[in-house]
Amino acid sequence: MIQVDRLTKQYGPVTAIRDVSFNVEKGGIVGFLGPNGAGKTTTMRILSCFMPATGGSARVAGYDVFSQSLEVRKRIGYLPENIPLYGELSVSAYLDFVAEIKGVDRSERKRRVADVMDRCDVTDVQHRLIGKLSKGYRQRVGLAQALVNDPDVLILDEPTIGLDPVQVAEIRALIKSLSGQHTVILSTHILPEVSMVCEGVIIINRGRIAAQGSLDRLAEEFFPTSRIQLQIVGPVEVVGPALRQVPGVLRVEHEGPADGAGIYLVESMRDRDVRDSLAQLVAERRWGLLELHQLGMSLEEVFLRVVAGEEFGGGA
Ligand SMILES: Nc1ncnc2c1ncn2[C@@H]1O[C@H](COP(=O)(O)OP(=O)(O)O)[C@@H](O)[C@H]1O
Ligand SMILES: [Mg+2]
Repeated sequence: MIQVDRLTKQYGPVTAIRDVSFNVEKGGIVGFLGPNGAGKTTTMRILSCFMPATGGSARVAGYDVFSQSLEVRKRIGYLPENIPLYGELSVSAYLDFVAEIKGVDRSERKRRVADVMDRCDVTDVQHRLIGKLSKGYRQRVGLAQALVNDPDVLILDEPTIGLDPVQVAEIRALIKSLSGQHTVILSTHILPEVSMVCEGVIIINRGRIAAQGSLDRLAEEFFPTSRIQLQIVGPVEVVGPALRQVPGVLRVEHEGPADGAGIYLVESMRDRDVRDSLAQLVAERRWGLLELHQLGMSLEEVFLRVVAGEEFGGGA
């Protein structure tokens, strides 16, 4: 649904993005993750025909964003970083205006506007002036204007920035409810947002794509091993070496106290489950097993590994 091929953008001497390539399949929500200044807004502006690239190409819904921008515009909804809402218009008048400039048929306009106001939960405030609305409501109106032409693709640039925690939760829920009917690409510099809202992730850092795929696939790529944490009551000098002898175990780290119930971190290949063998060993040696569990891998860890060695300049 979105095909980006070696996209590059220069602002004078500044290279904002370089050779950015990725694909987004139809349906679902993809997170476009990167620290501030990574090139998220630049990429999204190009995808939404807001400005041309310096090099490379991009297709949205099958159309080229440069040579067929009218066709692209009909099929996308774009929520920019700073929405230029018209403060002196009422919500419904504004949405009607956007529907008109997006080429929604006059006969359909009323129904479309009513429908998006309902979906974005702004029907109650439809007669209020946009300038008088809270930030949370303004963001809903921003989503409504992006949706008013019933686009195939939604491009949302940091849709939760500047909202309070309650509003953030509401907007995330609203965005989640849109997947299925639309293909959504959402930029964020907030790591947990990706795991909460998105199915796939594209990580951009310093203008370059650093990794992409489902969280599971990235886990396999960047974390080929899995880790098991055990708490065992037994003599440290015997337990550690014995755990290391278990077939499939690559590494053992002793983390806990030197005597008593020690904590051990055991690493094995991701596709080899050694938990049963570990438990059997502990039982045979008649040690005490207080805990045995597989450690999860957070997106944060993937992210840190992906950008490892590069300076992480993002403010959270
Ligand atoms: N209009 C502009 N003129 C010059 N440099 C810009 C302009 N817009 C963005 N940049 C630079 O391009 C890089 C990427 O910016 P941007 O796409 O806004 O990143 P993000 O949205 O990920 O924070 C940054 O280094 C930024 O300073
Ligand atoms: Mg930005």
